[in-house]
Amino acid sequence: MSETLPEVRNPTGDTPPEVRGTSETLLEVRNLTVKLKLDNSQDVAAVDGVSFTLNRGETLGVVGESGCGKTLTASAIIGLLPHTGRVAGGEILFEGEDLTKKSPRQMREIRGREISMIFQDPMSSLNPVYRIETQMREALRAHGKVSAKEARELSAEMLRKVGIPLPETRLREYPYQLSGGQRQRVMIAMSLLSKPSLLIADEPTSSLDVTIQAQILELLRTLQREMNAACILITHDMGVVTENADKILVMYAGRVAEYGPAEEIFSRPMHPYTQRLLGSIPRLDVDSDYLTTIEGAAPSLDRMPTGCRFYPRCPLHSGVCHEQEPPALRIGEHVVFCRRAADGESS
Ligand SMILES: Nc1ncnc2c1ncn2[C@@H]1O[C@H](COP(=O)(O)OP(=O)(O)O)[C@@H](O)[C@H]1O
Ligand SMILES: [Mg+2]
Repeated sequence: MSETLPEVRNPTGDTPPEVRGTSETLLEVRNLTVKLKLDNSQDVAAVDGVSFTLNRGETLGVVGESGCGKTLTASAIIGLLPHTGRVAGGEILFEGEDLTKKSPRQMREIRGREISMIFQDPMSSLNPVYRIETQMREALRAHGKVSAKEARELSAEMLRKVGIPLPETRLREYPYQLSGGQRQRVMIAMSLLSKPSLLIADEPTSSLDVTIQAQILELLRTLQREMNAACILITHDMGVVTENADKILVMYAGRVAEYGPAEEIFSRPMHPYTQRLLGSIPRLDVDSDYLTTIEGAAPSLDRMPTGCRFYPRCPLHSGVCHEQEPPALRIGEHVVFCRRAADGESS
């Protein structure tokens, strides 16, 4: 008899294991919690239960006001937390392996080959006393042996790719001799030398003017596609991720406010915070006096409100928002942590 029964995938009747990412999945962050030891020796979760998935070649935009935990999330992924910080919970599965369990040496190797990071301020990540050529050669050597000649050729080729004219001349120059936009292009070139499968760009264009910003974002998009690299694009400015992102993670005070496919977040934002962030994208066709700003400030680490952390600034909050954690409302891949959005959905 039993031979005729269809195959039962879950014969014990337990709830099926949560579906793990497909083979396309590159990075899966589950319930990541990063704790910081503050000066007053309080131990606080500056990143609290953050989860997201990133497929190969895909771009995740991580958005939120300054101080909401974007950089700490990225630093945990690349294993470069400040010494006062530690991963206190959760998993960071990269190619199926948990990076939180790797040794510092293993993480150094992964950073050299698989995961690269571009920082906000290229002046602080480029060494002012070395020529561009020397710095690019070091970056190349970090992931394999190359001769000086090979290094120069590879570096020049990469500078050409990122749109720097006369790369051979530029290689002999020092960072201060380049413009801000060119320095950021050099940083992008350096981060791509190892052909990483994941690129983390932390506010890569914040220090640049709007025109250069658009050029750099377009460059990132093109190169990333060409190399099939996934990207985590971190920004406080929703405008930056409108063109580049496949998915959006909105963070507020260390937690996920809303997460989902970019087109859904833009067309149907459900969290009042996301709605406000979207309202604050500067639009050329709207008088800037009309721009919505978000009143109040994000809470500080040692004074997190109970319940929903956004309620003190939320136009929709009700009493229960102070008392209880916001529930997760899921609609397909779109998830929002807001009681009022959940109420709206069920009414
Ligand atoms: N090295 C550090 N020491 C103390 N506090 C820190 C440190 N790094 C970050 N923080 C605090 O952790 C919170 C999150 O910081 P961060 O991840 O840098 O935010 P974001 O990148 O979103 O601006 C902020 O309150 C910030 O002040
Ligand atoms: Mg930051």
